[in-house]
Amino acid sequence: MRILGIETSCDETSASVVDQDLRLHSNVVLSQDEVHAPYGGIVPELASRQHIRSIAFVVNESLERAGLAVGEVDAFAVTQGPGLIGSLLVGLSFAKGLAYAQDRPLVPVDHLESHVYSAFIENRGITYPILALLVSGGHTSLYVVEEPLQFRVIAKTRDDAAGEALDKIAKFLELGYPGGPIIDRMAGEGDPDRFAFARPHMSDGSLDFSFSGFKTAGLRLIRKLGLTRSHADFLDFIASFEAAVIRTLLHNLERALNDFDPNSLILCGGVARNTKLRAQFLDLASRQGVPGYVPSPELCTDNAAMVAALAHEKLAQGFPRELDLTLNAYPRR
Ligand code: KG4
Ligand code: ZN
Repeated sequence: MRILGIETSCDETSASVVDQDLRLHSNVVLSQDEVHAPYGGIVPELASRQHIRSIAFVVNESLERAGLAVGEVDAFAVTQGPGLIGSLLVGLSFAKGLAYAQDRPLVPVDHLESHVYSAFIENRGITYPILALLVSGGHTSLYVVEEPLQFRVIAKTRDDAAGEALDKIAKFLELGYPGGPIIDRMAGEGDPDRFAFARPHMSDGSLDFSFSGFKTAGLRLIRKLGLTRSHADFLDFIASFEAAVIRTLLHNLERALNDFDPNSLILCGGVARNTKLRAQFLDLASRQGVPGYVPSPELCTDNAAMVAALAHEKLAQGFPRELDLTLNAYPRR
């Protein structure tokens, strides 16, 4: 069984071939960072145009690296949403064309669920129920997965996503785009306890996240201190800001863990590449005596391997094999 996955929900064009054991035969990811960097954030129209330029090359490259002809693919998989609608439609239309021409099934997958499922690629033995913390540029959510494919959102962000907060602070400080990895590198050299950021508190007791307060507090401090790269307090500020974001993420995860008593913990999404978050998450899991799983960094940011992997599970659970050409993309849940 060979599944070819396609992912174009945001600013990475990706195609991957995965087999029935979730072994990766290829995982090609073409980033558009250079296209969007001059604007300090993703420009949706440019993203769709770039996907159109890249998609055929990326799919061909993934087949070539897997040593497969397109006719040898048993099923196709594609991200259906959420994401940028123009970008999603490029991948979905391309995948429909392939499935139609090859007369093979096309399995649509949810982008966020595929992030959660990315952890299975390197760990087939993850046991249910699962509590997953998904942290990306567009989303920050907690999922409970009681059994295969039963994804239930128990918390989400009420405003900015964690990655968005990191990216915006980096943009304001003119550090480059995307800001998350830059902050990750710089924060290691600063004192994370130097500046305090009050953790948001939900008056209704919910597990929801909020990051816009941090962002506003961060921007106020930047202005008040006149922070720039050369300022003596710069690295301490970066380290403190990153630490505040991580503390909030893990605080809510720990509360959820006590409420839901899962058998496994997953950390996933682009921000799960963050070195301190990874370490502190694993620390929390081991303190609580629950196995914790974090995918390799390249499987945390957007990629098509997770799309093909989740499609494999859907097919195994009886997803219809007839091709549905009326499938449409959805920008939001
Ligand atoms: O999952 P992803 O590739 O795309 C979305 O679905 O949003 O996540 C992208 C996000 C960006 O906000 C980026 O800054 C962040 O992941 N990111 C990081 C790191 N690498 C990527 N954030 C913190 N530390 C990193 N090392
Ligand atoms: Zn993503």
